[in-house]
Amino acid sequence: MTTEALQTAQRAADELRSHTGVDSYKAAFVMGSGWAPGADALGEEGTEVPMSALPGFRPPAVTGHPGRIRSVRSGDRDMLVLLGRTHLYEGHGPAAVVHGVRTAIAAGASTVVLTNAAGSLDRELTVGSPVLIADHINLTGASPLDGANFVDLSETYSASLRAVAREANAELREGVYAAMRGPQFETPAEIRMLRAMGADLVGMSTALEAVAAREQGASVLGISLVTNVAAGLSDHPLDHHEVLETGRDAAADAGGLLAAIAAKV
Ligand code: HPA
Repeated sequence: MTTEALQTAQRAADELRSHTGVDSYKAAFVMGSGWAPGADALGEEGTEVPMSALPGFRPPAVTGHPGRIRSVRSGDRDMLVLLGRTHLYEGHGPAAVVHGVRTAIAAGASTVVLTNAAGSLDRELTVGSPVLIADHINLTGASPLDGANFVDLSETYSASLRAVAREANAELREGVYAAMRGPQFETPAEIRMLRAMGADLVGMSTALEAVAAREQGASVLGISLVTNVAAGLSDHPLDHHEVLETGRDAAADAGGLLAAIAAKV
């Protein structure tokens, strides 16, 4: 990353720690569309800081993304919960998209759990179910890295963290996540292309944050909540409100999974 991005993330982390009174965090949980109710299962809620109060954060534009960072005490460890994220389609560039993750890592988090809402390209990945991200295909055309920075992505999503998640829920399936820039949903032809490429899930977040976390050496776990069948694979059109509603209905269960993961990272 550029020195400037690093310095801004460090300043944001320092200010965050002075607001929350916590010196160092164990892990960070980025809550995607509809996942916010699941945050309550993570532990005892401490201080909550609006992202807009910290250096480098943009006010998020989308409904369902309130834009706050919560400090949570989970057993004997402190966790950060990022309620809301910046998406590439908002037009502020990749550095803005990954600033939350960089801030969390600068505040000590060595594990980053990225959650999102996704469309399913595989009939076995049913609406309402959480799916572990085994790998991603970054089709955003963007990267959070500048210059000759050849970060290894052979194991972007930690196999050992996926095993921890499966210990908590043996039924969890895995899939490859295709990251699109959006904001439009895909065409049926694009979905056929993504299937041919080996994608099982499609969404508009997560990949750039995972790359930024790997650059910093943090371990990454990715979990998609399937909110809809991808375009052209069912007989009804896609609707953002439906995505949010499905997310909300399923997020309470998903909270139990996050709590089990928090206990083991
Ligand atoms: N496509 C892209 N992003 C999404 C979808 C989808 O079908 N569902 C939730 N986020």
